[in-house]
Amino acid sequence: MRKEVILITGANGEIGHGLIEHLGKSGEANIIAIDVQPIDEALLPYCERFIQGDILDNMLLGRLVAEFDIRTIFHLASILSTKAEYNPEAAHKVNVEGTLNLLRLAVDQSSWQGRAVKFLYPSSIAAYGLLSLEKKNEAGKVKEWEWNTPITMYGCNKLYCEHLGRYYSYHYRQLAADQVKNTVDFRCLRFPGLISSVTIPTGGTSDYGPEMLHAAAQGKPYKCFVRPDARLPFMVMPDAIKSLLLLENAPKENLKHLVYNVTSFSPTAEEIYQRVKKAFPQADISFEPHLARQKIVDTWPADVDDSAACRDWGWKPDYDEERAFNDYLIPSIRARYSKRPASSALN
Ligand code: SER
Repeated sequence: MRKEVILITGANGEIGHGLIEHLGKSGEANIIAIDVQPIDEALLPYCERFIQGDILDNMLLGRLVAEFDIRTIFHLASILSTKAEYNPEAAHKVNVEGTLNLLRLAVDQSSWQGRAVKFLYPSSIAAYGLLSLEKKNEAGKVKEWEWNTPITMYGCNKLYCEHLGRYYSYHYRQLAADQVKNTVDFRCLRFPGLISSVTIPTGGTSDYGPEMLHAAAQGKPYKCFVRPDARLPFMVMPDAIKSLLLLENAPKENLKHLVYNVTSFSPTAEEIYQRVKKAFPQADISFEPHLARQKIVDTWPADVDDSAACRDWGWKPDYDEERAFNDYLIPSIRARYSKRPASSALN
């Protein structure tokens, strides 16, 4: 008998950390974790197995099919928006071909198990592309099907992978004589910028939020790369994990869409600065906008409409802006850095 497991790619990333810790503590799942980087040792006790490897390595994925019954895949691995612009073709390989490999793995798994494999996919506000700052300011809460004209490679990759999810769920090999239906149960969230008290993201464009906060808590100076008036939707990590698990567990018949916006609060960079400064009055933060990164932020919505998620699977964030900073981020970040010598912080 093969062991029933869940597979988490990008295990050492921001969401991977939060998800593995949460699932590991609940003790309900056998976790197989993959990442190209070594995994944070604190996560190892929660994993049935950690594999350091590449999602582009089909032999590695093939071995997983042979060894495990994978009931759910959380495909979190990707190259974020800023980093992707430095090597768009490499990002496309990881973000698109990597996703294709995992979808193919889900199909294989499903044929062995005779049931659909759940495939949880984090998409992003980067899938949107508002044509000008004026349009952004007028747009209000953007719905899933509006402004799907991303300007970044990462955004294009995310939007296309949403389409791949629909293709694999409903139309895969549609001309085949032996076409099998219901192989992949694709469920996708479009996340806003995420902020965690434990990790900081690498290579994203919404990173100024978490970076400002973590730098201030460590007494390090920080130059914010967007204008004070830049506004994006954000969410804290516990709510991101909550949304992934709520969507995973939602009855299929309730899901009217494959792709759902989720969000919590929409501060400007200035508003984040004010909260950080209040908690850490010594913080040395200045604004030095990087024009190209600012332009990306100007194409992402200031707010998204997550009413479909609220209606179909009961989505509601636990943390509004006030609670996010006062009850979660500030106290846990303060505790985190006060325990460690400054030189080891952020590692
Ligand atoms: N946080 C991501 C980024 O900035 C967007 O999903 O790239």
